[in-house]
Amino acid sequence: MFSGKQQLFLAITILIINRQCDPENLRYAFNTEWFDAEASLTRPYLLFYYPSDCSVELTDSKLNRTFLRRTRVEGVSLDQLYEGASLHIFGRLMTVLGFADDFTRNRLSLVKQRTFAMVKPDAVAHMGEILKAIQDHGFTVSRMKLTRLSEEGAAGFYEEHKGKHFFDPLMQFVTSGPVLALELVAENAVARWRELIGPTDSAKAREAAPDSLRARFGTNATLNAVHGSDSAEAAAREAAFFFPDSRSCRRPGLPTTACFANNTCCVILPHLVKAGRVGEVLQAIEAAGFRVAAAEMFYMENANAEEFYEIYKGVVPEYGAMVAQLVSGPCVALEITGDGDDLPERFRKCVGPRDPEMARHLRPGSLRARFGVDRVQMGLHCSDLPEDGPLEVDYFFKILQ
Ligand SMILES: *[C@@H]1O[C@H](CO)[C@@H](O)[C@H](O)[C@H]1NC(C)=O
Ligand SMILES: *[C@@H]1O[C@H](CO)[C@@H](O)[C@H](O)[C@H]1NC(C)=O
Ligand SMILES: *[C@@H]1O[C@H](CO)[C@@H](O)[C@H](O)[C@H]1NC(C)=O
Repeated sequence: MFSGKQQLFLAITILIINRQCDPENLRYAFNTEWFDAEASLTRPYLLFYYPSDCSVELTDSKLNRTFLRRTRVEGVSLDQLYEGASLHIFGRLMTVLGFADDFTRNRLSLVKQRTFAMVKPDAVAHMGEILKAIQDHGFTVSRMKLTRLSEEGAAGFYEEHKGKHFFDPLMQFVTSGPVLALELVAENAVARWRELIGPTDSAKAREAAPDSLRARFGTNATLNAVHGSDSAEAAAREAAFFFPDSRSCRRPGLPTTACFANNTCCVILPHLVKAGRVGEVLQAIEAAGFRVAAAEMFYMENANAEEFYEIYKGVVPEYGAMVAQLVSGPCVALEITGDGDDLPERFRKCVGPRDPEMARHLRPGSLRARFGVDRVQMGLHCSDLPEDGPLEVDYFFKILQ
């Protein structure tokens, strides 16, 4: 039938085709970088992700040399690989700059789209409920900050509306109180977020889309509860406005809303953030009568996590595992405020015993009983001593800013 030469040719062709289609070798490529603080240098790496076994490989893009041989990395999955994402690989905080080849871009660009969302001053009191709706609809929150727009900032953000009849009332409204800025990631995120928020005018939204966020939380065309970018380009621009990139010119970010008085600190741990439960936790904290005065998502470095947990070193046996948990993904730091001198005590009681198992027996209504798994994935960190609260709030909202 086939000559020896033909057979060999056929075999090689099949081998090549197989190799390309072989799911074992299917890989996605991303341009990433890592800021080496010691050398004060940004180092570029090509990151390959193999979905067949969830392994990762890193190549030093400058030296064209393998930096990390193909291996599985705890906590890294395809979910976390999109433009602008931050991820930890063996203690290094890497930033994903973008897709590194056409195959990856074609397969993933719509699957992993980013959009910018903002909860406006009229709806910030409902931020827990809104975040829960966001997370229930399959969006991943990749950045988040409770902040305040100055007049100048608001005018810059809404530049394209300058001169329109609604510009002045809009300026007045968005600078009237805190706003929650969010970057969301999902398949087709821009369109899906606009669908979830509904028509611009909340009054019309109540007729046309009664389940939409603007129908539920807004009042009219100005006081309309939430913002959503209208295109992928606008999303990139708007996200950059609120979340200036650490690698570009280091423009200071927008101010925090922390009040640095009569406060205590709470951190929603990465395992809960990953599970999409930030909204539920905020709802539970507010239902218990506490006020969330400041909130921001952080991607902690190993050194920061060790520093933050310093007082537990040598005191609790889980110290190492706690540090590992804190850097395993983004966490959300909160400044909690409320009336009375005993706020830290009351909040600590509300959070419950360190061991969630014990909490479920002793204080079943406490936050750790409801949201914790074990002594490491304990759901929430809270300041243990009243005098630590302000220091921990300072750590997140002053030092890490
Ligand atoms: C990197 O090295 C590989 C072989 O190790 C080579 O095939 C490739 O052309 C090199 N790329 C660059 C940009 O030098
Ligand atoms: C929206 O409602 C607010 C508060 O009721 C009111 O002051 C404002 O004029 C309304 N704006 C529009 C465009 O209807
Ligand atoms: C803190 O609380 C005390 C009383 O509990 C009060 O006198 C003081 O004004 C509060 N400080 C601020 C900045 O709210």
